[in-house]
Amino acid sequence: MPKVTIDGHQIEVPDGTTILQAARMIGGPIVPPAMCYYSTLKTSGGYCRTCIVKVSKGSEKDPRPMPKPVASCRTTVMDGMEVQNITSPEVVEARKGVVEFLLLNHPLDCPICDQAGECHLQDLAYEHGMAKTRYEFERRTFEKIDIGGKIKLHMTRCILCYRCVKVADQVTNSRVHGVMNRGDVAEISTYIENVIENDFSGNVIDVCPVGALTDKTFRFQSRIWNVNPMDAHRDCPKCAGKVTLWMKGDVVARVSARKDKYAEVIDWICNECRFEKKELQDWVIEGPTNIERHSVISQNHYTLKEPSHKPVLNAVDAVDSSSTSNSGN
Ligand code: SF4
Ligand code: SF4
Ligand code: FES
Repeated sequence: MPKVTIDGHQIEVPDGTTILQAARMIGGPIVPPAMCYYSTLKTSGGYCRTCIVKVSKGSEKDPRPMPKPVASCRTTVMDGMEVQNITSPEVVEARKGVVEFLLLNHPLDCPICDQAGECHLQDLAYEHGMAKTRYEFERRTFEKIDIGGKIKLHMTRCILCYRCVKVADQVTNSRVHGVMNRGDVAEISTYIENVIENDFSGNVIDVCPVGALTDKTFRFQSRIWNVNPMDAHRDCPKCAGKVTLWMKGDVVARVSARKDKYAEVIDWICNECRFEKKELQDWVIEGPTNIERHSVISQNHYTLKEPSHKPVLNAVDAVDSSSTSNSGN
């Protein structure tokens, strides 16, 4: 099994492991950000370049460094490889450039965007972005499109990561949307706005790393930091039925799939669970969702009182009633 060293941490990994997967096995701040790679979607990755790293030693057999930064999600580990991510000023600088490119046409309308507070692009812009854009040309804009009755596409915010296309391809039973055209005129389209109506289409919302695909049943209902995420399940004949309920008091404001610490969906959920089951009695509540990311969602929300597993709501109610104290993000 090959050994790789990433930012000074050595790990032995199975053959075929990518640098990004090896970094995730190590964990912590050395893990590169990933806007298009998705571990459960085949052929994902290779589109966004946010995961770039420097390979300062190729392998034990051929120690020459790689001549330029490589996409860690698409580069396989070799025995003796040495990789730099956050310890390389060159990579940090190059990542800033990638973020600047991702933001070239992006509206950055976070104050009115439903994804704000759980958006990877927002995190990246905050961590690596420039305070001011250098782009002087007209930004490309699109009309908003309804993809079926429950999903809204804001193409202006799309970063063309292809995750939704791969979900439609691999998770639903009929793909009717994809990326049309190339380069500056590339866009996600449903080909004459065909409706995506199949049982698992709602999962495109969860994999979208930005606010390009949003849930019409939740749009503009609440800032994400003003709702409480709860793990819940139901006996569903179509999917695992394991979800996160986003609660506003006793009201189920949104249902989404559960995600891991890299914000990847653990079990795909069906549209019935996502869009139709909005009553508390539809669900067995397990307890507060543990949001592991350094997210505004997990700030000041609630504590778990032992042993009843009943969430004790506190700060959210306070936030809701005073309405602003941590809403600035
Ligand atoms: S997609 Fe993210 S970065 Fe873009 S406007 Fe929405 S929250 Fe802000
Ligand atoms: S709509 Fe979202 S998931 Fe689909 S390609 Fe654009 S950014 Fe990616
Ligand atoms: S996550 Fe590797 S290129 Fe996008």
